[in-house]
Amino acid sequence: MSPLEEAVSRLCEGVSEKDLARATEELTTRYQTLKSHQTDLHRLVYLCVRMPATYAALCRVFQEFEVPQTVLDCGAGPGTAIWALPGHQLTLIEKDPEFVKLGKKLSPDAAVTWKTESFLEIKDRAEMILFSYSLNEVPPSKLSQVICQAYHQTENLITVIEPGTPEGFERIRKVRTQLLDLGMSLLAPCPHHNTCPMEGDNWCHFSVRLPRTSLHRRIKKGSLGFEDEKFSYLVASKKPFSPEGMRVVRHPLKRKGHVILDLCTKEGLIQLASTKHKKAKWGDLIPFVKNANSIIEPRKESLPD
Ligand SMILES: C[S@@+](CC[C@H](N)C(=O)[O-])C[C@H]1O[C@@H](n2cnc3c(N)ncnc32)[C@H](O)[C@@H]1O
Repeated sequence: MSPLEEAVSRLCEGVSEKDLARATEELTTRYQTLKSHQTDLHRLVYLCVRMPATYAALCRVFQEFEVPQTVLDCGAGPGTAIWALPGHQLTLIEKDPEFVKLGKKLSPDAAVTWKTESFLEIKDRAEMILFSYSLNEVPPSKLSQVICQAYHQTENLITVIEPGTPEGFERIRKVRTQLLDLGMSLLAPCPHHNTCPMEGDNWCHFSVRLPRTSLHRRIKKGSLGFEDEKFSYLVASKKPFSPEGMRVVRHPLKRKGHVILDLCTKEGLIQLASTKHKKAKWGDLIPFVKNANSIIEPRKESLPD
């Protein structure tokens, strides 16, 4: 068991699994109407069912760049970022006092600063401002105002992670356009600053596989021992940066002696049959190859559950 799983199962001790399963069902089926986590049981379910997945997405995104020392986490929930950024100086903004209490119980020794307030008005400064699965709770009419404030309050980076759905990606696309207009550079995942070439049924998202704990399997009634968390993300910097390379934007298709890669490049979306990149994985950045410019027929992808 990972330290996070141990801490979560300690908090769930004494809580009936039947109740957890019922609250899981409610959160899954009524999330759009519930939106926030209304009861202690719903918050515990977030810890059991969603936090391991958002933690895995955070860890995957943080492999893409060097995370600075000071981080302002907007919409921290139970403090998922604490687990993904040990040793960093974190300020966690969370409007739900019950989540703050739970976050403090979950990682009582963490040397972090919690603030029970709304990030619709960002008052603190940090080298990086993070929104992890929180912008989808911002009213669409306020999104650009929040991003504008984040731009003014960050000393360098803004990182946004959203569910890897068409809706999650549309928010990322809006943020991308706004941050480019403000003069920021993109560190990841985009390998260029041109207009995003994702169109139609195609949306930019990635996937991280994580083991399911036995508690998760029991309360979510899933039989698989793992799950694939789909996420979209963006990392932008105030320091000028010229992105390079080509980003693998779908699972590579293995063929005899070669692999077919769907790639995002400065020349748009291309498909490359390669003998050199047989180990490339979805999400990897590979060196730019000239003359590999056949346009992709977007592959239909099933939505995450
Ligand atoms: C889905 S959770 C994500 C939690 C955590 N960042 C993670 O990745 O696991 C979204 C959190 O954002 C918080 N939130 C939403 N809007 C907020 C706002 N305006 N100010 C502060 N927190 C907010 C919610 O209360 C909730 O705890």
